[in-house]
Amino acid sequence: MAQLQATPVRTLSLSGRRRGGGAATRPQRSMVAFRCSASARGYNITLLPGDGIGPEVVAVAKDALSVAGSKEGFELRFQEMLMGGAALDAVGVPLPDETLAAARKSDAILLGAIGGYKWDNNEKHLKPETGLLSIRAGLGVFANLRPATVLPQLVDASTLKKEVAEGVDIMVVRELTGGIYFGKPRGFGTNDKGEEIGFNTELYAVSEIDRIARVAFEVARKRGGKLCSVDKANVLEASMLWRKRVSAIASEYPDVELSHMYVDNAAMQLVRNPKQFDTIVTNNIFGDILSDEASMITGSIGMLPSASVGESGPGLFEPIHGSAPDIAGQDKANPLATILSAAMLLKYGLGLESAAKRIELGTYILLARHWLDASEWERKS
Ligand code: IPM
Ligand code: MG
Repeated sequence: MAQLQATPVRTLSLSGRRRGGGAATRPQRSMVAFRCSASARGYNITLLPGDGIGPEVVAVAKDALSVAGSKEGFELRFQEMLMGGAALDAVGVPLPDETLAAARKSDAILLGAIGGYKWDNNEKHLKPETGLLSIRAGLGVFANLRPATVLPQLVDASTLKKEVAEGVDIMVVRELTGGIYFGKPRGFGTNDKGEEIGFNTELYAVSEIDRIARVAFEVARKRGGKLCSVDKANVLEASMLWRKRVSAIASEYPDVELSHMYVDNAAMQLVRNPKQFDTIVTNNIFGDILSDEASMITGSIGMLPSASVGESGPGLFEPIHGSAPDIAGQDKANPLATILSAAMLLKYGLGLESAAKRIELGTYILLARHWLDASEWERKS
């Protein structure tokens, strides 16, 4: 963060809550932590609207942030930068150097969405998605928090039966800068029969597993105290190491109940009985898939925010949905996931919990109103 060197500083745990007296009895292992200048009442936010519905939803979230700031007495300074297809069209690369540099210098980054049909057939290095992966790697944001919470007002929107969906409150902690997304060797080639092949490598080092495991244990400790690690340790070596290290790190967190589950079973259990899960920790690709699945339990992927954070430096906050080019520019996009991402930015990125609460409460009130209006309408019709 820009204020990293500023003093005095306060250190925030990943959950956004300061370690208090309650934690004193627990092992005080350090973990990923944010350091924000306590005296700073102004923050620099990089906005990356991106493509499709991205600019629409980011504009709404920006307003929500400004209102929260003015109510809480701090100033947010916004700088909009190019990213994804918008950057490809303007300057020919999906992540311009200036964008990464500005993002690194800021206190937090809010991203809308990237991608669209127009760039789908581009070469890999010219795909909007490559820009997204590069900014995640460039910022070192290895821990991606994706909450899937079923709101009472929206339980009927879930595709699952009410009794299965109600009360679901899951946090998926996805490893974001390793695994098959980044592992080498990768590429295209030819096999010994002369056939064209494509290949990737699922690869994790101990340090990568240990740091994401610690984040997940910290998150679980502040939630329901249960952590389920999802892997494919019956087949994949990278998963065998994953399971071994997560089990080893568990000894630092005796207050958290750890379980392990194979990913195929986890995918099934998420729709069979999602309430059994509290916090899930998993690798990059399983996290990508399971977080989309978990989002649908809540009724809509359009509702789910995410926070990506690293050991130091600014966090990246983005809705988990895509750029929805089919509805872009029609004022139909649901901005809630981005608004809730803005709340996560305040809470996890800047440590401004009460400001985050304002946005969360505002969102829930909005939803409650919407729901009341809908039931009113149903009664009339
Ligand atoms: C996500 C997205 C990205 C991912 C894509 C757009 C590269 O699906 O954030 O979940 O696979 O990580
Ligand atoms: Mg995804």
